[in-house]
Amino acid sequence: MHCKVAEFTAHAGYQQVKTLMNMTPPLRDERATMNTSTTQRGALSIRNVTKIYDPEGVNVMAVDNCSMEIAAGEVCMIVGPSGCGKTTLLNAIAGFHSITHGEIFLDDALLCGPSKPKAEQAAERMVVFQHGALFPWKTLAENVAYGPTVQKTLRKKQALEKARDMLSESGLGNVVDKYPGEVSSGMARRAEIVRALINDPKVLLLDEPYRAMDALTKSIMHESLLETYDRTKVTIFFITHDLEEAIFLGDKVHVVTTRPCQLKKTVSVDIPRPRSYETQSSEQFRLLMDEVNEAVHEEAIKAFQAGEREMA
Ligand SMILES: Nc1ncnc2c1ncn2[C@@H]1O[C@H](COP(=O)(O)OP(=O)(O)O)[C@@H](O)[C@H]1O
Ligand SMILES: [Mg+2]
Repeated sequence: MHCKVAEFTAHAGYQQVKTLMNMTPPLRDERATMNTSTTQRGALSIRNVTKIYDPEGVNVMAVDNCSMEIAAGEVCMIVGPSGCGKTTLLNAIAGFHSITHGEIFLDDALLCGPSKPKAEQAAERMVVFQHGALFPWKTLAENVAYGPTVQKTLRKKQALEKARDMLSESGLGNVVDKYPGEVSSGMARRAEIVRALINDPKVLLLDEPYRAMDALTKSIMHESLLETYDRTKVTIFFITHDLEEAIFLGDKVHVVTTRPCQLKKTVSVDIPRPRSYETQSSEQFRLLMDEVNEAVHEEAIKAFQAGEREMA
């Protein structure tokens, strides 16, 4: 049963990747590189957003009057109990569904609001899916080259060359011609991030991307993501349950309430970058953990008492 759900979600992921890659405006080729500094773009402003699923029927209020500001080039971690509405918020930013009230802006451009309840899907906001959505029938290089190829912003040969270069930069140089099923889940997840980055997004949207991984693989993923971030300075909107992950990666940790989702507390992580694993044994890290933990724990108890169920 669980596999069926994962299969279905992965299939939905392929569809969304296809849609994202096909619908978006042409890339600016000269910027589609991991070495480009993108600090000045990618600010997200979530203003009084409410999302009610099926108002006429089951009427689930997932997000209620939620506001948050994410600066350009910031790594923003969203932490909150299962079923509280985190994925709902991410899906609204990505344009996978509409919002009921409020507005979301990206760099002062309205993504969705009263005049346009559903944001358009676009490669400026790339999603890395929880269950992974690489096309299993394409090699890693072909997967990464897919976006620029279907958008015809690069010829297939150039796109493949760029994909290989970017995969190599991410330490995947010797698996570029492997299929997703032939590499570890960690490698596949890194390739997915490269596939998102080749589209030169303003924002990367990650929904618990390392959730199912063991601690060691996760730590390698974290270092790789931080290295990528230090190179690109792309804005990152990252949902997680893992508090250590949130503090280790984030500039800000936004703790959200149990459903309906609202911002409960923002913790600024003033640990200098580049960060290394030693950071995690510092006193500063421990104090931040305590602060985040206290806020999350309160909400987790409320969610547990309300019997909230996670939808993934
Ligand atoms: N399509 C839907 N229709 C009705 N309710 C939904 C739908 N998707 C999610 N929900 C409900 O909205 C709430 C928030 O879900 P979600 O955003 O997935 O939470 P999280 O990501 O924080 O675990 C949950 O109570 C979930 O059951
Ligand atoms: Mg979720």
